[in-house]
Amino acid sequence: MINREYVKMLENKDIIFELAAFANKRRAEVGPDNVFDFTLGSPSVPPPDAVHQALRELLDEGDPFTMHRYTSEGGLPETRAKIAEDLNDRFGSSFSAGNIFMTCAANASLAHAMRAVTVPGDKILAFAPVFSEYEFYAKGAGCELVVVPADTENLGIDFDVTERMLDSSISAVLINSPNNPSGLVYDTETIKKLAELLKQKSAELGKTIYLISDEPYREIVFSGTDSPFISNYYDNTIVCYSFSKSLSLPGERIGYVAVNPKAENAELIVSMFGQISRTSGHNGAPVIWQRVLAKVLPATSDVSVYEKNANLLYDALTGYGFECVKPGGTFYMMPKIPGGDKDAFFKKALENDIILVPGDGFLCPDHFRLAYCVPTDIVERSLERFGRLI
Ligand SMILES: Cc1ncc(COP(=O)(O)O)c(C=O)c1O
Repeated sequence: MINREYVKMLENKDIIFELAAFANKRRAEVGPDNVFDFTLGSPSVPPPDAVHQALRELLDEGDPFTMHRYTSEGGLPETRAKIAEDLNDRFGSSFSAGNIFMTCAANASLAHAMRAVTVPGDKILAFAPVFSEYEFYAKGAGCELVVVPADTENLGIDFDVTERMLDSSISAVLINSPNNPSGLVYDTETIKKLAELLKQKSAELGKTIYLISDEPYREIVFSGTDSPFISNYYDNTIVCYSFSKSLSLPGERIGYVAVNPKAENAELIVSMFGQISRTSGHNGAPVIWQRVLAKVLPATSDVSVYEKNANLLYDALTGYGFECVKPGGTFYMMPKIPGGDKDAFFKKALENDIILVPGDGFLCPDHFRLAYCVPTDIVERSLERFGRLI
């Protein structure tokens, strides 16, 4: 017998990949320069040279027998130590190698974190605009994702509603800053306020509410943006990270979970991750990439183009009259759909070969997402077309 749950999920196709496939079809029809595809969140810059240099060194100088062997549980000690050292240097935290568990990128990190601090039937609280895949990660842990509706003015956290929704059914809170899809970065004041609320609610409800902080865009923050390291403000934080965006390695599947050493049961949670890996079929992150990380950290790709693209789009769109929260990081922004007729707007965008993602999947149905991880000349040539949509 096959599992009907997954068959049912097939009805729920990923709209972003469908739109990206449509963009590919249009590229074949009208030429790649005439399609303005703002759908996929895949980095548009290469990894830094150091990454390929490190790979070459490993292949040329590494012992072909030992290089590919199983790692110990949690990953290579030298990579975990390097990650802890890098976090501590940059954020003044106190991680050690034992707090870091290597994973196959952010979705695996989230799956581990969610399973560690919930039991099936629990609820996980997240905030709209919300990354559409969270629902499935939560489902995989047997949990329900409940989402605080967005404060539609600034797409930030609505604390009054959050306070009401934080009841005894919630075991963990999931936060994503810098945010996909809005590009919003929660500032220090917001993070302090959330931390205070979680401390107060944990005491009131007599349980530890863990904060799962999904941070794959942590290194893509624009100048002048206040971007606090969230774990420094709330001890019971589990950081989920991936090198998909900061090192432009989305297909390599490499990341980590970092448990704040001051979190309740911090050591136990990292050991539990090993067991979660066993039961979920994850079992270890690619060892060659762990070796590369140990050599190249804290390197990142040159992510400056994303800020350039953001400014070009933000200035032009707001100039045309679009309402949009200015992104503080990532390679996304989320303008409001102008004019009130959503269908007419998306139809007109497609007629102009501008491919956009509707905000429905992010629980912001009056907005659309623009992923501007595309060459700057595409952005520049798209601007006049956006003017036709308003
Ligand atoms: C907010 C967010 N979390 C998690 C992920 C998953 O990242 P990865 O591909 O590194 O697993 C993504 C990917 O786009 C994302 O945008």
